[in-house]
Amino acid sequence: MMEFLSKRKSIILSILFWFSLTLIFNNNGVVEASHEVFKNLHPVPAVNVMQVHRTGYHFQPPRSWINGPMFYNGIYHLFYQHNPEGAVWGKIIWGHSVSKDLINWKRLKPAIYPSEPFDRYSCWSGSATILPGNKPIILYTGVIDNNQTQVQNYAIPANLSDPYLTKWIKPKNNPLITADVSINKTAFRDPTTAWFGPDGHWRITIGGRRRNRGVSHLYRSRDFMHWVKAQHPLHSQAETGNWECPDFYPVSISGKHGLDTSVMGPSVKHVFKVSLDTTRYEYYTIGTYENDKYVPDEGMIDGWNGLRYDYGNFYASKSFFDPSTNRRILWAWANESDTQDDDIKKGWAGIQTIPRTIVLDPNGKQLLQWPIEEVEALRRQKVDLNNKELVHGEKIEINGITAAQADIDVTFSFQSLDKAEPFDPTWDRYDAQKLCGQKGSTVDGGLGPFGLITLASENLEEFTPVFFRIFKDQNKHLVLMCSDASRSTLANGMSNSNDGKDAYRPSFGGFVDVDLTEMKLSLRSLIDNSVVESFGAGGKTCISSRVYPTLAIYNNAHLYAFNNGTETIKIESLNAWSMSNPLQMNR
Ligand SMILES: *[C@@H]1O[C@H](CO)[C@@H](O)[C@H](O)[C@H]1NC(C)=O
Ligand SMILES: *[C@@H]1O[C@H](CO)[C@@H](O)[C@H](O)[C@H]1NC(C)=O
Ligand SMILES: *[C@@H]1O[C@H](CO)[C@@H](O)[C@H](O)[C@H]1NC(C)=O
Ligand SMILES: *[C@@H]1O[C@H](CO)[C@@H](O)[C@H](O)[C@H]1NC(C)=O
Ligand SMILES: *[C@@H]1O[C@H](CO)[C@@H](O)[C@H](O)[C@H]1NC(C)=O
Repeated sequence: MMEFLSKRKSIILSILFWFSLTLIFNNNGVVEASHEVFKNLHPVPAVNVMQVHRTGYHFQPPRSWINGPMFYNGIYHLFYQHNPEGAVWGKIIWGHSVSKDLINWKRLKPAIYPSEPFDRYSCWSGSATILPGNKPIILYTGVIDNNQTQVQNYAIPANLSDPYLTKWIKPKNNPLITADVSINKTAFRDPTTAWFGPDGHWRITIGGRRRNRGVSHLYRSRDFMHWVKAQHPLHSQAETGNWECPDFYPVSISGKHGLDTSVMGPSVKHVFKVSLDTTRYEYYTIGTYENDKYVPDEGMIDGWNGLRYDYGNFYASKSFFDPSTNRRILWAWANESDTQDDDIKKGWAGIQTIPRTIVLDPNGKQLLQWPIEEVEALRRQKVDLNNKELVHGEKIEINGITAAQADIDVTFSFQSLDKAEPFDPTWDRYDAQKLCGQKGSTVDGGLGPFGLITLASENLEEFTPVFFRIFKDQNKHLVLMCSDASRSTLANGMSNSNDGKDAYRPSFGGFVDVDLTEMKLSLRSLIDNSVVESFGAGGKTCISSRVYPTLAIYNNAHLYAFNNGTETIKIESLNAWSMSNPLQMNR
């Protein structure tokens, strides 16, 4: 079976999900053609909320709100949670788009929508698995009543010869799994991709809760149709509340490549991720999977102080293995951070982050994430800058590219760590976001703040800085990375319909566990009109921000590198590209 798994031309579908959304859409179920972002390359007098903040190269549906990914048979599939009826949080269906390169997309008809007693009230998230004979199967959560009772169903392609798998069938023997009395049936959702054990049984895990304990239930099956709950959950953790969208997969200890979900043994570690309903954060741990139990490694923090894939707008993520390139790829939903009123005006809400490859950091203590290389095909005009010093208070403009839609990769260096500010022992070292709020880019420092100023208006009325600041702790240095959305727009919500209290635009932050021996720090940022997606130190710490500038738009957006620390910083190398729109983004 292992051989089959590694040799197969596999179809892997992983669908993510997010459930307790309360967004409202003014979409009447009509799917309209996508709007072009770069219709207008000259300054626009007033901000047209329908257009201006639509992304150029991030996946985004024409209307409504989304959050799901997947991949398949030479073709990548993106299934996404979607409310076609608009109005209010209602019947969620599975939208469906396909791509050959994860960049250009073609929209298909919805794959799964409520129609049967076992999913009449909604079709929530799930995952796909490839069964022997190269047969994909989707497991998803159906909502069967007004009380949000959840069951697990399956769907299969109507025609395996159809390269796009456009039509899906929900056989009559659904639901496959209902909650037994020990399970809270209103918190029982998001089945994972199945993995195959040496004992000939498939396994899946399903998110849930036992009172306030987050639980990932484990089920086993020989034939994929009859599932038996294991006595013990795969994993659980007290006081973490409901677990959504669990993800569970192996990573290679030595290799740079990704692994099929079923790979086990001494050469792998396992990653367990959940989306925490309570905080709306995701965290992951790295650990060992043995005897059907997952145990996080010593030192891993199992709860919201733990490692996060991303410290910004990022939720309901899901990974899948792409056997054609031997990568494990991570997708996530980045929600809007403006108000619900603004979402209604825009008529859309939610985008997908750029897919990222995930590998284990050579230090074994965290993952490394990096934008898939396919995104580089969208690079156009290039500028570079080398060996440029930035003294205290200096900023330098990066000219010659479209700053509103760009890819920037920069390496900074410095001569000494001596000027690093002392880390106050009273600061909460798990609350990087709070520290970023206190020690913003405008607060002078010793070693840092330095970094990029993205989506900046001419006189910095609006800007989103992404930067580092280095502290000296007892006997080591702490690197803080921030992505500050708090100054990104002059308007409190584009519509000015409120005082901005509803907006979610803090200075996001995370610490970067990086070796500073070489006195270098790198930063990559993908900028896309209303998105700033950043990767610190080669993908050790990632932060995605959603921002809504009103001045720093189209050709009026500027990009700078800056240093507000007393230690001189050198731009060792900086490469920046204009990013074009995909040819086909029929989303
Ligand atoms: C929903 O829950 C209410 C209150 O517990 C109960 O009275 C009602 O029968 C339930 N409805 C269904 C369809 O289960
Ligand atoms: C299945 O798909 C193939 C390829 O698109 C097509 O030729 C065939 O007619 C389809 N079969 C049915 C029963 O629709
Ligand atoms: C069951 O889950 C629901 C939804 O998360 C929650 O509101 C409820 O309190 C839970 N019930 C128990 C007994 O934990
Ligand atoms: C986006 O997510 C954040 C945190 O997950 C949440 O605080 C915020 O309310 C969300 N925004 C919207 C518009 O749903
Ligand atoms: C750097 O500091 C100066 C002076 O406080 C401030 O005006 C400027 O906005 C800061 N730069 C950034 C990117 O915050």
